[in-house]
Amino acid sequence: MTKKILVLPGDGIGPEIVAEASKLLNALRQDHGLNVELEEAPVGGAGYDAAGKPLPDETLHLAKEADAILLGAVGGPRYDTLDWELRPERGLLGLRSELALFANLRPAILYPQLASASALKPEIVGGLDIMILRELTGGAYFGKPRGIHTRDDGTREGFNTIRYDEYEIERIARSGFEIAMKRGKRLCSVDKANVLEVSQLWREVVEQVARDFPRVELSHMYVDNAAMQLVRAPKQFDVIVTENMFGDILSDAAAMLTGSIGMLPSASLDAAGKGMYEPIHGSAPDIAGQGVANPLATILSVSMMLRYTLNEPTLADLVDAAVSKVLDQGLRTPDIWTEGCQKVGTAQMGDAVVKALKA
Ligand code: NAD
Ligand code: IPM
Ligand code: MN
Repeated sequence: MTKKILVLPGDGIGPEIVAEASKLLNALRQDHGLNVELEEAPVGGAGYDAAGKPLPDETLHLAKEADAILLGAVGGPRYDTLDWELRPERGLLGLRSELALFANLRPAILYPQLASASALKPEIVGGLDIMILRELTGGAYFGKPRGIHTRDDGTREGFNTIRYDEYEIERIARSGFEIAMKRGKRLCSVDKANVLEVSQLWREVVEQVARDFPRVELSHMYVDNAAMQLVRAPKQFDVIVTENMFGDILSDAAAMLTGSIGMLPSASLDAAGKGMYEPIHGSAPDIAGQGVANPLATILSVSMMLRYTLNEPTLADLVDAAVSKVLDQGLRTPDIWTEGCQKVGTAQMGDAVVKALKA
């Protein structure tokens, strides 16, 4: 049966990087028997421009119908002064919550060819392969009460609530243990249980779930230490499971271990394995429109889509190998460029990956 993929380019570099991922999907369809059809819709600032809101009804409808979603990025300075509910980021958050995409997998893998592009020494990052599992539909991003309150005297306070229901912790913990079982069988739960009650509950529930996974070695770490350990000795980690905001921050830090934020893909999955796939980076307004953005995080997000939703692990391996091949060829977008390599733009990189599929 033909699977439907909804493509949401978004804003800034979003359309540039998604164009390369779409090229790849089309090549897989034409030459490798991938049975998919692609449809495109606006989201984020593009949604606001097209339909007056960041998550147009039609886009949400198509997202619910689709088997998988590929998203570029949303946001940009043009939209930063809009009312809160109209901001591009609300569109992305709306998709995540409406589709109940609670499990966000962010793998940080160092391609050996990029060891010298990492901000860290090769011996610290060589062979790095960690999975950050970020809870995506709870915590401060969605907790209530939230808002900005003006007091009678005109002074203001802003507030958000980090809230987790036990079942939300349980299901993400379970995903963490299941992922760990398929990898190195080590799970590190990151929290702030020395300060936050919500983290205390998190830790208790993770401990309970651990009883069902006796073969996984569970550890706990405070988030401040985890940030430090990620840059001190990142290879100590196998799988990290953490709440929404901690995961957002730690995954950007982890991205830099791999050479560039332009290298980190992600999968956001619901309980049934339906997913939205996107690079972890944003719309990069500083380089948008220049044709220099690294499309590999988006291309690797297609690989995750093939693996996790489309059930095509062989094609996913093929895409991963094609990425490795173009890196072997010395092709580099500016963000991962090092001495002796060939600097290429977004489209050249995408074309090279498509070509490498055949080689
Ligand atoms: P960003 O990730 O867009 O950019 C941070 C830095 O990384 C910039 O210097 C940028 O040029 C660089 N960068 C990012 N992706 C790159 C790529 N593929 N290739 C080369 N360089 C790349 O983060 P920001 O600047 O904090 O945010 C910009 C906008 O993006 C904001 O509106 C923010 O809300 C939004 N944002 C969206 C998402 C998303 O859609 N998932 C994620 C993060 C930020
Ligand atoms: C990400 C982004 C988003 C987040 C923003 C744009 C809402 O930073 O996908 O990592 O904070 O989750
Ligand atoms: Mn982020």
